[in-house]
Amino acid sequence: MKITIIGTGYVGLVTGACLAELGNDVFCLDLDQRKIDLLNSGGIPIHEPGLAEVVARNRAAGRIQFSTDVAASVAHGDVQFIAVGTPPDEDGSADLQYVLAAARNIGQHMTGFKVIVDKSTVPVGTGDRVKATLQEALTARGVAATFSVVSNPEFLKEGAAVEDFMRPDRIVIGHDKTPEGEKAAAMMKKLYAPFNRNHERTFWMDVRSAEFTKYAANSMLATRISFMNELANLADRVGVDIEAVRHGIGSDPRIGHSFLYAGAGYGGSCFPKDVQALERTARQYDQDLLILRAVEAVNDKQKLVLGQKVIKRFGQDLSGQHFAIWGLAFKPNTDDMREAPARVLVRQLLDAGATVAVYDPVAMEEARRVLALDLSADELARVRFASSPTDALSGAEALVIVTEWKAFRSPDFVKIKTLLKHAVIFDGRNLFAPDAMVDAGFEYHGIGRSI
Ligand code: UGA
Repeated sequence: MKITIIGTGYVGLVTGACLAELGNDVFCLDLDQRKIDLLNSGGIPIHEPGLAEVVARNRAAGRIQFSTDVAASVAHGDVQFIAVGTPPDEDGSADLQYVLAAARNIGQHMTGFKVIVDKSTVPVGTGDRVKATLQEALTARGVAATFSVVSNPEFLKEGAAVEDFMRPDRIVIGHDKTPEGEKAAAMMKKLYAPFNRNHERTFWMDVRSAEFTKYAANSMLATRISFMNELANLADRVGVDIEAVRHGIGSDPRIGHSFLYAGAGYGGSCFPKDVQALERTARQYDQDLLILRAVEAVNDKQKLVLGQKVIKRFGQDLSGQHFAIWGLAFKPNTDDMREAPARVLVRQLLDAGATVAVYDPVAMEEARRVLALDLSADELARVRFASSPTDALSGAEALVIVTEWKAFRSPDFVKIKTLLKHAVIFDGRNLFAPDAMVDAGFEYHGIGRSI
């Protein structure tokens, strides 16, 4: 099938590459010339395992092209995916200007039937706005072409995006019950047929319900995390190991094991933004989502917990003290630092007077960029960007682990002990067994494990 993808961010690029891999003829549009130049020269603007190989293979096969040409992009795809950003507005609601601009562009150029797919995470009712915007552009041109707007939210996780797309646990498609809507549904069914061969993974619903499903999924996952983080803080006080509790409750199939890890708080471009946006939607309908407000508040507090543990152990005034931080990305296998807990920790330790050495296996370049925005020049001078995990440790009082990269899971503890001034580890992701750490001669502070 001939597909156009508007926006080459995480979702757009992964969707485009994977649909090309399935044999479709894909046209990726982005208005950022530098991004398109990079993609056309074989580069990939994001760190995502496996993505570069899929893009390269399909470029070589002529199944994927990258361009800034709007008219050509509209002419190309029978199905037009809108996968542009929906950053939070000042009030927390999703900013739809890029989504609506994409709809306008399609309306300004299309001549025949098109399926418009909202892939971006968009609030309930956006499908209607996309429809109205596109129709307005068509009417202004006096063109009578028909179209249908479909909602097909994406559930891929950064760091596992290609795998998630190629092996989806569900495909959610919202469409209208009109003749155009049914035609669009038939085209979507054909497009996703390769995923439904062994068993049907598609859930068909109306557009609004599909839009809502995405927010409900992310909000539910964020709720589980905040719930566990809150219990972990209590576990710390009452002498309970939250990891044992996680196993104990996760084995109940009604609860399940995933997304029950207490830690340094959730970050990234999705959970914080989507929880806020759903709260905002509720407020517009005069409803206060009490649970989600708490989820957000708990998460904001949780990002401070690691730093508070350091301060409790080393004192309110950390002047003259130096700390090693392992892990800056909001989670492993990405260089993304949006809403990353490490940013809060760095700020907290610097505010208390400390200096820090930071290390991340892939996010160093992003860390330099982001910390330069977060910090003043004086503060930035108190951050050393280390060249390796070991390099970060030299002369530090203690090690603080914020992201659970594989490379940090079985480190050389003897070396760590030699390089640190004190054998103290603050583990924001509960990577190690507290008993084993004590046996290895460490003072170990996990999250919810002060047993
Ligand atoms: C999330 C969802 O998991 C995807 O299904 C969704 O498609 C995506 O948002 C999106 O809306 O685009 P992502 O933000 O990439 O994916 O990352 P997650 O793996 O969900 O992790 C989010 C945050 O939660 C991370 O900071 C992670 O460290 C934290 N987390 C996750 C925990 O603290 N505990 C857990 O048990 C799981």
